[in-house]
Amino acid sequence: MRKLFKNPSQIITVNTSGKNVKRGKSLTDIGLLTGHSILVEDDLILDILPNSSVSKLKIDQTIDLKNLVVLPGLVECHTHAAFAGSRANEFLMRLKGASYEEIAKAGGGITATMKAVRNSSFDELVKLLKPRIDNFISQGITTLEIKSGYGLSFYDEIKLLQVINHFKKNSQIEIVPTFLGAHTYPPEYKNDHKLYLELIIDELLPYVIKNKLAEAVDAFCEKTAFSADEVDKIFTKAKKLGYKLRLHTEQFNRVGGLRTALKHKADSVDHLEVISEEEIPAIAKSETVAVLLPGVSFFLDHDYAPARKLIENNAIVALSTDFNPGSSNIPNLHLIMQLATLKMKMTIEEIIPAVTINAAKALGLNGKTGSIEIGKQADFAVYDTTDYAEIIYNIGNSLNKYTIKKGEIVFQRTESL
Ligand code: NIG
Ligand code: FE
Repeated sequence: MRKLFKNPSQIITVNTSGKNVKRGKSLTDIGLLTGHSILVEDDLILDILPNSSVSKLKIDQTIDLKNLVVLPGLVECHTHAAFAGSRANEFLMRLKGASYEEIAKAGGGITATMKAVRNSSFDELVKLLKPRIDNFISQGITTLEIKSGYGLSFYDEIKLLQVINHFKKNSQIEIVPTFLGAHTYPPEYKNDHKLYLELIIDELLPYVIKNKLAEAVDAFCEKTAFSADEVDKIFTKAKKLGYKLRLHTEQFNRVGGLRTALKHKADSVDHLEVISEEEIPAIAKSETVAVLLPGVSFFLDHDYAPARKLIENNAIVALSTDFNPGSSNIPNLHLIMQLATLKMKMTIEEIIPAVTINAAKALGLNGKTGSIEIGKQADFAVYDTTDYAEIIYNIGNSLNKYTIKKGEIVFQRTESL
């Protein structure tokens, strides 16, 4: 089946010249094309060609994209969307002066959501997650990562991973599950960290990969969660089992997580709000993606990660919502892109790769999605505007009109904003 995505005002290809990543000087060239169309065969991009040469083509279907802007399908590379319950009470406590860490220490935080997840059935969790995934699809997201990490027991972590995998099988977009059993210590192991580590390392890690429930493992390296030594143990075993690695690190305190992640050549290090200047060259030299989460800083009224310094030093930077009920109840990737301009001073030319090719790299999927290049999946976000600058100018809104996954329209907005 050959489809022609015809004559958009602009195509932002995020052309990588085969490198499948954007860093340093390559960031300024986002591959803007005008007067072109995209030819798709089945699920792949066959050609990107001038409008003048499309009349000769044999085509089964034409999709008219006049007065619209096409980007690669967005990649949301860090979410905790599979949760139950609400932490609005904690939001109000923070407004009265309590900090996120104080609330966590007092038994709220991740533990509060854990209780709600443990009290929810598979079916209830599926019902909660469905509209959240649909909401992401409506924003032009064609690849969506979702972590476990709110079960924190063998049974409940597997239950949560099964919920996420239900959508991996049944969703119109690609869902990427990540195992985050090392999110925090659950209350029953508060005085026996060793035993919980054993549960993760000896039981959950082998079970999860053997049963194909996740290909990546994540952990939270922080004073209130796992030490760098503990993460080192988890990553050593995970690597042996063939997992990809990601790490929540340098969010509130520097406890050595970034160094540990780089030692293990993690695919991504996420947060970095308090990264020390001395560590920037090490990450900049590596292939590890710095996933920045300005929504967390906004939601917690906390420091922003030093995006400019990371970019200027040649690091690979991605952006994500970190959507979760406690530190970023913001399921809106466009607002995150807008915060990245206003609060971290990133340019739109830096932001587009950060939510496409570089986010795909964080997930190890940059060879097949994240840019509009011949041979890649036909994953597109199509915007109701003629100028890509409007995408970040409309604060709080997504101008996405069509979401296209592997050449199929999986979302269509009928009304204009
Ligand atoms: O990415 N930092 C740890 N994990 C999440 C927060 C999860 C929660 O508060 O429920 C984060 O910010
Ligand atoms: Fe997170």
